[in-house]
Amino acid sequence: MSFTGVGVGLRRPHLEAVAALSASPVPFWEFAPENVIGQGGRKARLTREILQRDPVLTHGLSLSIGGPDDWDPEQIRDLKAFLRELEAPWHSEHLCWTSLGGATTHELLPVPFTKEGVARCVARSRELQDRLELPFLLENISWYAELGEPEMDERAFLTEVLEGADVGWLLDINNLYVNSVNHGFDAKAWLTGMPLHRVAQMHIAGHDWFEEDRLIIDTHGAPVIDPVVELMQWVLPRIQEATGKAVPVLLERDNAIPELEELLAERARLQVAYDAALADSEVAG
Ligand SMILES: [Fe+2]
Repeated sequence: MSFTGVGVGLRRPHLEAVAALSASPVPFWEFAPENVIGQGGRKARLTREILQRDPVLTHGLSLSIGGPDDWDPEQIRDLKAFLRELEAPWHSEHLCWTSLGGATTHELLPVPFTKEGVARCVARSRELQDRLELPFLLENISWYAELGEPEMDERAFLTEVLEGADVGWLLDINNLYVNSVNHGFDAKAWLTGMPLHRVAQMHIAGHDWFEEDRLIIDTHGAPVIDPVVELMQWVLPRIQEATGKAVPVLLERDNAIPELEELLAERARLQVAYDAALADSEVAG
């Protein structure tokens, strides 16, 4: 199955309504396997019903790629079996760390932009890709402060990890936009020269302003704003040129979750923008 167009993150408040439909209302959903593997109860059962009917992509939350904690072999084995049964085309995680000494934070913490940080992420991404026997993608995160003394910038760090591990890139265009505003750089200049040939999927989302509009935080709690849509439209044809594919874009919404109908209307608006961006690129040759 090939994944293209604009999909939506499958969230708990919508499970009942989605499962009651006769067919998928979206090109694909994305969900976290952690919410289903080994889980009982009505929510997990409804999710399984939807997975059997609709195209889905997976996005993990718990493997702390940039952290030092060893993985539970059973967890990796179960994940591998689950992804195989689902016929998942790839699996993804954030390029960050979320646990230390067995204690898990729900924050996505940045890995220090150092040679040591690169080496750890490369080794763990390679290992995971090998153990899952499935293409693995890393997602660029939004970050608010550098950790430790950086030895390189984020562009160099991300590029070295993706190339060193030989993994794909889940380009979160909202995370990039949030960073560009908070750290004061131009997002298009940042993307120019990056390994767009490694992009296999994108994320798009909304965010919120804090501190009297001086800081934006990647809350996934609001509709996507026009500058982020425009950035998606700018990069999509460039990725298509680099990969030969119209990569799928996933709309994420995790806070202030609206009714399903409203979320699907936003997806439809993004699909129009997606189609227009790729149609223009065909006209341009
Ligand atoms: Fe994301």
